[in-house]
Order: sequence, then C-alpha cells, then structure tokens
Amino acid sequence: MCGIFGMIGQNAVENTCRALKYLEYRGYDSAGTAYKTDGSLNIVKTVGRVEKLTEIMPETNGCNLSIGHTRWATHGKVCQENAHPFYSYGKKFAIVHNGIIENHVNLKYKLNSIGVKFLSETDSEAVAHLLEKNYSDSVFDSVLLTANELEGAFAVVATNTYDDSLYALKNKSPLVVGIADTGVYFCSDIRCISHFANKVAVVPDKTIAVATRNSVMFYGFDGNPVSVKFFTADTAQETETVDGDYMLKEILEIPDKIRQAKQGYIKSGGLNLPSKTVHRLKRIYLIGCGTAYNSGLEVAAVARKLLGIDVIPVIASEFIYDSYPVDSYTLAFLISQSGETADTIRAAERVNSLGGFTYAVTNTANSSLSFTSSVTKNIYADAEYAVASTKAYNCQLVTLTLLFADLAYLKGSIDEQTRNKIFDSIDVLPSAVDKVLEDSYQISRIAEEVKDSSAVFFIGRTADYPTAAEGSLKLKEISYIHSEAYPAGELKHGTLALMEKGVTVVAIACDSAQIDKMSLSIAEVAARGARVIAVSPYNFDNAALVKVPVVNKLLYGILSVVPLQLLAYYVAKRLGRDIDKPRNLAKSVTVE
Ligand code: M6R
Repeated sequence: MCGIFGMIGQNAVENTCRALKYLEYRGYDSAGTAYKTDGSLNIVKTVGRVEKLTEIMPETNGCNLSIGHTRWATHGKVCQENAHPFYSYGKKFAIVHNGIIENHVNLKYKLNSIGVKFLSETDSEAVAHLLEKNYSDSVFDSVLLTANELEGAFAVVATNTYDDSLYALKNKSPLVVGIADTGVYFCSDIRCISHFANKVAVVPDKTIAVATRNSVMFYGFDGNPVSVKFFTADTAQETETVDGDYMLKEILEIPDKIRQAKQGYIKSGGLNLPSKTVHRLKRIYLIGCGTAYNSGLEVAAVARKLLGIDVIPVIASEFIYDSYPVDSYTLAFLISQSGETADTIRAAERVNSLGGFTYAVTNTANSSLSFTSSVTKNIYADAEYAVASTKAYNCQLVTLTLLFADLAYLKGSIDEQTRNKIFDSIDVLPSAVDKVLEDSYQISRIAEEVKDSSAVFFIGRTADYPTAAEGSLKLKEISYIHSEAYPAGELKHGTLALMEKGVTVVAIACDSAQIDKMSLSIAEVAARGARVIAVSPYNFDNAALVKVPVVNKLLYGILSVVPLQLLAYYVAKRLGRDIDKPRNLAKSVTVE
C-alpha cells in the first residue's frame, strides 16, 4: 500500500520528490524514484523517509520524465531490495505500483521458468518483468498484454527506454491524472496532484493511460479508446510545517474545528438527502475503519436514542465479505478522514451494487470515496497529518450527530425543539474542550505513571464504551503499549483474570445512568491491584479523576475522548516514540 507519482514535464525529478512528500501519508517505509537520462533508466531508492531520498538524489538537471513511490510494506519486509521502483530484467522498463497483484505467485513462476530472476520479495516486481517480456515492437501493446495478465488491485506507472511516453495501468487502486502547462501528471490522489495541475480526472478501472508532454489518451483493457471526463480541482494548500508534533497541534485545534464542523454542516445545506430516501429508510449502516469505525460506533449509540430503526456500526473490511443485508431501503454512511481507505471504498461499492444509498462523511472532498458515494459531507477538520487521528474524530462525531438530529426530525421521531436543542448544545463543546486542554499538565503527570504499565484497559458502558475503544486505539498505535477496550460489564466474563499490579484501567464514566455500575467495575479492578484513572464529571473511590465538564448527554463522546488523546500523546512522548509516524502504520490504508 503506497503512494505513486509519475510526470512528464519541467523539473521532473525535483517535482517527483516534492510529490512524494505529499504522498508520504500513504506509507513511509521506503521511497524511490526512476528517471530517464540519455535514453537509459536510473533508479534511486532508499529505506526510510522521502527526506532521506531527497538527500541522496544526484543532480538531474533537464530530466523531464520521472516516476516515484513511497511504500507501506505489504509483500516483503522493509529493505532496499523491496523498495520501488523496479527495473525489468533488461532495464528496459521501470515501474511503481500501488495495490496487490493477486496472481503474482503464478506470474513469478512463469517468469522464473523463462529465466527471469527476481531481486525482491514483492508482488510488484512481476509487472516490470512482464512488460519487458511482452514487448515486441510497441510499448502500448506490451502494456495492453500486461494489463490483461494482472489480477487484483493495481495502479501502476511505467517508464521505458523505447519511447518518451509515460504509461499507467489502473484497476481498483486509486489513480488520478492531471494536465497543466508544466506537464502531465499521474498520482494516487487528487490532493497531491492539485499541487501541480488543476485540470484533473479520475482514471476509471480497467484503463490504460498514455501520456506525452502535453496530452493523455485513455484505453480500455480491450485496447479501444475510452473518454474520461476532466474537471477543475482547487489548488492545494502547501503543507504547513510545525515545530513539534502534528498530533499535539491537531488536538489543540479541536475547539476551533468543532465550531467549524458545525458551521460547515449548516452552510453546506445540512442533511442533503432526497426525501424519498429518508421516508423509506429501514436500516442504517455506519461503516469505517479504525478511528472512523469508532466514530460510527459512538454515534450509533446516539442515533439509536433518536431514531426508531436499526443503526448498525460495521467495520468496513467485515462489511465487504459478510452478508449484511442491503436493499433500496438501506442508507450507508461511509466514514473516512482520508476518503482513500480501500476497505471503506469497497464497502461503498458493495452498497451501491445492491441498490442502497451511499453517503460519504469525509475530511477530503474529491477523494476516491466521494467519487464512489451518492452524497458527500465534509467534516471540515482541515488537513490532518499525524497518523493518529484526533481532530477528525471529533469533527466526524459533530457532523454525524447533526446528521442524525436532522434525520430523526425529518423521520418524525424527534420534534423540532429537540433537534434545535442538539444543534445548540454543540456550541458549549469548544469551551468544555478548552477546560480539558487547560488541565493537560495533570494528564501529562498521569502519563508518567501509565508509561510503565504492562497493559492498559479502557472500559466504559453504553456511549462511553466507543470512547474507550478510541482511547485504547490511540494509546496502542503511538505508544506500542498493549491495550484493549471493553464494555465494563463484560470484564467479569474473562478479562478480569488479567487485572493485577502494573496494569492500568482507564474508566470512562460520563453516562450518569451508569455511574453506580461503573463504581462497581472500578472497585473490582482496583481490588485486583490495577491502577484506575476515571474520566468523568463525577468522583469515584479508588480512582484518580480526570474531570470533564458536564455537557448534553448525547455529546460526551466528542468531549471525553480529548483527555484520552492527550494521555496517548504524553505516554508516547515520554517513551520517546515517533509520534506522528508510528512504526508499521500509514495515515491512509489504500489496500484491502
Ligand atoms: O482515512 P480513514 O479515516 O478512512 O482511516 C481509517 C483508519 O485507518 C484510521 O482511522 C486509523 O485507525 C488511524 N491511524 C487511527 O488513529
């Protein structure tokens, strides 16, 4: 899973390195580029970040054709040999690939049998060798033959020594193309490409694109020309660099972003659902991965209170292959910060194919998910760079809460006054979050004790459980401490066996109706030696308190997650972790 880029035009190599920086959120295990000088292909690649690649790049003045890659390892470990680009065996082609070639074992076997030696453990290398093997006298024919031999998800950009065109093959993995006076560009996403070109198009599945310096042509995998619609994308803002960690900066932005999410929701027209869809609704899914799934889990608890119909949170990768029913009475909210998460996009495709209505809730307009969904609602969190998602979660919750308040009102399950009360209550949240942020020194102090825990369990009941799940995800992904979340009532059915000295339990206890039950759970784990931290407006025996202000009971999830985000940050900081780019992860996971 990776970011790919290719261009023909001015300062190709410099621009490729620049683009890879924008694409690094898709993977940062290794980076590389291939470029053409005096008719030959050159590859420079390295394990590590794009910054390292830039440091080792030789002078390439005047080079006007280049491809580049930033990798998140799927097939094969993180090492120089497995870094992209790859040469074909005779160095006539070089390729970069994002996706998974599902038949790579067969292809490798066939290529080995005619004497081709593989230098990497990747599935991608086979594409380069196939291109050379399939070449007789036309690069296009070779690309066409190759495209038809590949199975799986792939976006490939290829350069070669025979002609000066850039070729791209696309099926299921995202690929966009951009045209500007400065050249023609291929890239994994629109946000990156719009730093270079405003006239952009999304390359359809099973398409080959052939670019020269000023134009690009598209063909189906049958070799026939296809027409692809271009549109004008907004010019991307330059990536802001900060002193310190993006994660902390993004947490500190939460009060402002909550305001922005509400204003954005109202300005963009609110729910925007056809009334026919609203009235015939029988079933609602909230689909996402990781933090986006947790926001679905949280808001499902709210939605169940507001609507009288099934609201089912589902992990996207489970939704794709399980038999969750979908029909024309189904509405699916696809939640994704990046809008590029492969599992979520596949889930949207499944809903579409079965006649359901797809509604994207995303931080990235013009993302692949938006193009797959019938309606897109922006969450207005602005760019999020840290791999650990923070402000996007809060904005997803604000947006989804408003969406459900509108939906419930339109369906007649709440009255206008209740709907307006929910809208008004959001306005209290920024100052409530500010209060929590003012207490961050206390959380930082607690982090000093938590950092040596053998394990950390997050517990909560009803709407506090999804918050526990999100707190646990945050902590494990950036501190690498083993952590789990449990509905508090479930502890006694097994997990209680793990409670002992050295374990920390973080109890989220904001639902006032559950306070007595939470007191019992806290007493049970404390009696077994666990250190307990309660995140709550209320005091508990046996627990250090991180106090959160009282807010509307439907909105606690938006507030009580903030101390957990801070706790994860401070623990990871004290452990000396790479906060914004934790090991083994990527900001956006673009393979299934
Ligand atoms: O871009 P998306 O919201 O679709 O990403 C989904 C998950 O990959 C993401 O939330 C991930 O879990 C974060 N690293 C969590 O902090």
